[in-house]
Amino acid sequence: METSPYTAYDNSQGIKGPPSRFIHGNSKQVTQMKKEASSKHMGLTDDLFPRLQPHIYSWLKTYGKNYLYWNGAQAELVISQAELVISQAELVISEPELVKEVLKNSGKVFVKRKPTDLGSKLLGNGLVAVEGEKWVKQRKLANQVFHGESLKNMTPAMITSVDNASKVERLRSYLEGEKMFNMLNKSTIIVIRNIFATRIPFIRYQVMKSTDLKEAEELEKGIQACVMEIVKKREDKVVIGEELVDECKTFYLAGQDTVNSLLGWTVLLLSIHRDWQEKARREVIEIFGDQNPHPEGIPKLKTLNVHLFKLERFANGVAKATNYNAAAYFPFGLGPRSCVGMAFATTEAKIALSMILQRYTMTLSPAYVHRPVLLISLRPQHGIHVILESQHIHA
Ligand code: HEM
Repeated sequence: METSPYTAYDNSQGIKGPPSRFIHGNSKQVTQMKKEASSKHMGLTDDLFPRLQPHIYSWLKTYGKNYLYWNGAQAELVISQAELVISQAELVISEPELVKEVLKNSGKVFVKRKPTDLGSKLLGNGLVAVEGEKWVKQRKLANQVFHGESLKNMTPAMITSVDNASKVERLRSYLEGEKMFNMLNKSTIIVIRNIFATRIPFIRYQVMKSTDLKEAEELEKGIQACVMEIVKKREDKVVIGEELVDECKTFYLAGQDTVNSLLGWTVLLLSIHRDWQEKARREVIEIFGDQNPHPEGIPKLKTLNVHLFKLERFANGVAKATNYNAAAYFPFGLGPRSCVGMAFATTEAKIALSMILQRYTMTLSPAYVHRPVLLISLRPQHGIHVILESQHIHA
């Protein structure tokens, strides 16, 4: 049975989309298309879009630059108003002007989508998830933490953590962090696994909890305990409320895998494009010699800046490559909800890459299997395998 409760509305707006099915919306199709796409072999130069988002790739072609589909029947029971909302549509827009309008949100009409039950276990009331006055307050604080002097003061800690990561005997704090990241990682996988799962009305209020929900609840408790332990070790007098725990979780989550992926993919590209690797290394040595990176030198790393995004396409800068259209390429988002950690992330990545380039030459290992997967950020499913050869600059 095919149904689209909003057909009349969609048609009057001129928005098309795939026919939706009762209860499941388009979820089953999305899951099937993803399964088929991911079962295919992937070469290093293959286009990622049809592989990772096959439904979007295909429906954009069929239904136009902006289309509507039904992400399952995002069934939701609003008990207080005794109202049953059965379906939730997703509008996919790919026209840069419209993207800009939504993300800039000047009229304050676009709110972020409400996280799923599992998503809220992962994000709580951290900056990524909150809205309104609460967001204004939290964003102001976060802006101060991740910019200017405060960011400069973090440089030594970033250098130490790159150093520690390269030592066989890792520090205790590193292991603590690792425990936390493993738990966050497991939670992310559960959330992603359930994005296209159909939830039937009332089911989430039933006595029987799904295995995923039970595991997510256990992980939530574990993450909470871990954050408290880490914060208490640094500051005994601090009162650790739920808000602080949620914000710490958010920064761990938003800051770890994103920068990890960025580093991983950049190392892969540099290992393949040895000429760019040499160019980047020459620049690093010119600016830092064999010394550790310092805040004054980091903005001078022009080649690494290009590398952090994409090679030849951005050789003349991002603005030129996108025809001066900010909404055509925005890895850190756009508008008021854009990434608060952008300066932190690029600083951290430039420090780590500079220190790697100072020490090693990288070549792609024959053991590397190219399998990018989308888990909020784009990750290499089997890791990045490169062969490191010592540069002999550092004794
Ligand atoms: C390569 C690294 C990173 C990338 C590509 C990235 C990307 C993004 C993007 C695209 C958004 C907007 C999401 C949206 O529109 O819903 C965002 C938001 C955010 N990012 Fe990042 N991010 C990175 C690193 C970081 C780091 C290191 C932190 C903090 C430690 C961070 C914290 C946040 C937070 C808190 C938000 C939500 C901001 C708000 O809603 O006001 N990110 N990020």
